[in-house]
Amino acid sequence: MSFVLPTVLGHRGARSVKTENTIEAFAYACQSGVRWVELDAMLSKDGEAVVFHDETIDRMCENRETGRLDERTAEQLRSVTLKNGAKIPTLAQVLDVLNRYNGCVNIEIKPSRPELARETARKVWQVVRDRRFDDPARLFFSSFTWDALKETKAIAPHIRRGVLVEDVSGDWRPAAKEVEAYSINYDADLLTPELIREIKDGGYHLLAYTVNDAEQAKKLRAQGVEAFFCDDPLFMTKALG
Ligand code: G3P
Ligand code: MG
Repeated sequence: MSFVLPTVLGHRGARSVKTENTIEAFAYACQSGVRWVELDAMLSKDGEAVVFHDETIDRMCENRETGRLDERTAEQLRSVTLKNGAKIPTLAQVLDVLNRYNGCVNIEIKPSRPELARETARKVWQVVRDRRFDDPARLFFSSFTWDALKETKAIAPHIRRGVLVEDVSGDWRPAAKEVEAYSINYDADLLTPELIREIKDGGYHLLAYTVNDAEQAKKLRAQGVEAFFCDDPLFMTKALG
């Protein structure tokens, strides 16, 4: 199997359909025929790779539990209940689900603190190898934290890397060059036709997040954006034909 960039990736699984970044979300995406999903990987206090987006558990908790994710051990995180009764999965658990369906994944390495960038990348790679997911056709990395991408380039150079860009990011250009990025993964609302042209002319693939409006996706696609992170990936897949 060779790598084929999908048009649609299920953002945090399928976050408008199931609780984001949970087993339920990834199983739903796979069962719906969505081949590619995106997830956020972060470290617990004791260095376990878990799948979670925020630095704190506040927004996602059902019973008003609060606090930083990285101040709880993996065992403590197991007793946290998210919305709809879901649990915070480990990266290993999610990869096991994806393996069951032969799914593909963009692992966004999301260090809970900048100084954990390289350690987070190393742990993610260890889990990926342990679950036999180290297949460049089924996996690529991305991060807003460019040190994390530098680390993946050092330890897993054959796995593609995407530089994530948001409004507070520094200049992505030197980072993209240094990590030999495969793609630039840009905030859709910040993209302009000029930027799109520059990125494509630079030889990078271009992905946009988060796009839930089919008309916006069609417009961006016509301008050169190749792939979209979508909260309802099945809807977008149908809409884009
Ligand atoms: O990787 C695309 C997207 O997930 C980046 O933003 O904040 O949803 O992780 P965020
Ligand atoms: Mg993400």
